Amino acid sequence: MGKRIIIIGATSGIGRKVAEVYITQGWKVGVAGRRAEELEALRKQAPDQVFTQVIDVTQPDSPEHLQALIKQVGGMDVFLLSSGIGKQNHDLEPEAELKTAATNVEGFIRMVTTAYHFFVRQGYGHLAAISSIAGTKGLGAAAAYSATKRFQNTYLDAMDQLARMNKLNITFTDIRPGFVATPLLKDDRYPLLMDVTDVAEEIVQAIEKKKRIAIIDWKYRILVFFWRMIPHWLWVRLPVKN
Ligand SMILES: NC(=O)c1ccc[n+]([C@@H]2O[C@H](COP(=O)([O-])OP(=O)(O)OC[C@H]3O[C@@H](n4cnc5c(N)ncnc54)[C@H](OP(=O)(O)O)[C@@H]3O)[C@@H](O)[C@H]2O)c1
Repeated sequence: MGKRIIIIGATSGIGRKVAEVYITQGWKVGVAGRRAEELEALRKQAPDQVFTQVIDVTQPDSPEHLQALIKQVGGMDVFLLSSGIGKQNHDLEPEAELKTAATNVEGFIRMVTTAYHFFVRQGYGHLAAISSIAGTKGLGAAAAYSATKRFQNTYLDAMDQLARMNKLNITFTDIRPGFVATPLLKDDRYPLLMDVTDVAEEIVQAIEKKKRIAIIDWKYRILVFFWRMIPHWLWVRLPVKN
């Protein structure tokens, strides 16, 4: 079984907790994000297991930095993308929308295509990304966030089909958490908030079980089931605040 994972967006929140679980399980863990001091703090937890690389996914040279991190770790069996930004934008302020797209769409493409091509060359691999349940339907309070998360869901579906057409041994996991108590949500209040440690444990299990789509947790699986059944004409009339 593979024991080398690269996690992009491991400097805080979900990505960081997932990195800590893999460290505890004895994996070699390559971690990235923009904040060097947070990466160094993780490395100090297990200097023999943790490798760091500053990566800003919005920059055109980020794929080269990802390649450098893979080299440092000595290969990659699992790739997990946790980098992402988003906030409520009731005024539809365009700069905030564009920033979200730069990270969650352009940055996402840079990272997952680099990982995909690495796995093609290697002959196998497991590509996972943390999208969100927010991609289920367009959210008036967070247009770019919900739309970029839907983009990620669709992109992972497309890569899965492409890999199968080319008979590649690549597994895909789309992780869709509900609300998690992390710095991402610091400015707003949310219902059904989950603990980041519990969510990280569920993510590691979903990856281990090679789940194709993992909605986290069970409460959100029920919620999303009913959410999907709301007809379009009704959904756009609902005053959803979050
Ligand atoms: N919290 C929730 O309720 C929730 C629910 C569903 C899905 N998610 C998704 O889960 C993922 C992680 O979010 P979180 O809640 O853990 O939030 P977080 O604590 O704010 O973590 C976000 C991570 O993304 C990284 N990041 C942001 N911009 C980046 C960039 N340009 N280049 C590289 N890394 C970047 C951050 O690192 P640096 O700042 O160091 O670059 C950080 O490590 C996101 O994709 C988010 O959409 C979160």
